[in-house]
Amino acid sequence: MTAVSALPAVAAGPDLLGRSLRDVRISVTDRCNFRCPYCMPKARFGPGHRFLPRAEALDAREIVRLAGVFASLGVTKIRLTGGEPLLRPDLVEIVEGIALLGVPDIALTTNGALLRRQAVRLRNAGLHRVTVSLDSLDPAVFSAMSDSRVEVSEVLDGIAAAREAGLEPIKLNCVMQRGVNEDGLLDLVDFARREGLGLRCIEYMDVGSTNGWRKADVVSGEEILERVSAVYPLLEEDLDPGAVARTYRFADGAGDLGVITSVSRPFCGDCTRARLGVDGKLYTCLFATSGIDLREPLRAGADDNALRRMVADRWKRRDDRYSELRGLGIAAGERIEMSYIGG
Ligand code: GTP
Ligand code: 5AD
Ligand code: SF4
Ligand code: SF4
Repeated sequence: MTAVSALPAVAAGPDLLGRSLRDVRISVTDRCNFRCPYCMPKARFGPGHRFLPRAEALDAREIVRLAGVFASLGVTKIRLTGGEPLLRPDLVEIVEGIALLGVPDIALTTNGALLRRQAVRLRNAGLHRVTVSLDSLDPAVFSAMSDSRVEVSEVLDGIAAAREAGLEPIKLNCVMQRGVNEDGLLDLVDFARREGLGLRCIEYMDVGSTNGWRKADVVSGEEILERVSAVYPLLEEDLDPGAVARTYRFADGAGDLGVITSVSRPFCGDCTRARLGVDGKLYTCLFATSGIDLREPLRAGADDNALRRMVADRWKRRDDRYSELRGLGIAAGERIEMSYIGG
């Protein structure tokens, strides 16, 4: 295993737009116990859908090995995502391995339904923090937006379990859709302020090719800030270059609110993120149409230096800025589904 402290044999980047590789999001499974229509609509991800066969997915050792390669290239943040990462039986093993590498920030994005059962084990394995997706507190809206039998109370209990286990700071991700959950915005804000959670409202994005995205369904970050600040005044933006969310502290000191404005105000300029898909493909953009295969060389016996070189070479050729191009009306290609490429 490559120690993180070892000097990188090959540095990653900067890419063609001057951005260094700092942050990797690993999709550990393409499966999910929810069917949020904006991510895995049932019509497309129904009983007939063929998920990636287990043998084609990276196993825990392979994920940890690649995490070591990324860490040695200067990656300081690893986020485990999916699909729903808590569905993966060996998730604890993956977290343990990454924690042993000494990665400074290990986070997990989850829908929260299975968090009560796993929070303590994950914390003991070395997970630092979780972000829980929560689109509404209203049981009917929650059911429609998750299209599952899970009740919102189970997710709230999962959040409580994460807190008890010390998986903090806990953030909440809410995908805001016009006419679907926008009326519940202030309830979510009240909940987050009361519970000390960092709510981040995400503009509905055109990820993948199955969610039928229309720009008219997007509620902009600007509108969200206006609606919230009319009730709870917000201070100037906290400057955090490279962060996905723009965050604003509440003037009364009760936490902060984030907006993720990939549609109305893209943040490609300082995007330091790569994604590792379930099958070991490396993608350099959430909206990528193709990636480079790391699984095949890994299974063929490539050493860490060779893997480092592959990642670094790909990163140096990177010129992705999909969200900016979308804004200019130039967007092309059959995009990979989010559950596969890693939200
Ligand atoms: P922190 O590490 O807590 O700052 O979280 P994060 O914002 O990196 O990650 P999170 O998983 O909470 O992502 C929030 C939302 O932002 C999700 O919908 C992601 O898909 C989206 N997102 C994350 N990275 C990118 C990106 O590089 N480009 C775009 N367009 N969206 C992104
Ligand atoms: N637009 C915006 N956010 C999305 N997510 C999933 N699909 C979309 C989409 N189409 C969010 C999830 C999760 C995060 C990883 O990505 O709600 O919180
Ligand atoms: Fe599952 Fe998250 Fe996608 Fe919803 S957004 S279907 S919870 S992976
Ligand atoms: Fe990065 Fe691509 Fe998102 Fe732009 S659209 S911020 S390049 S992942």
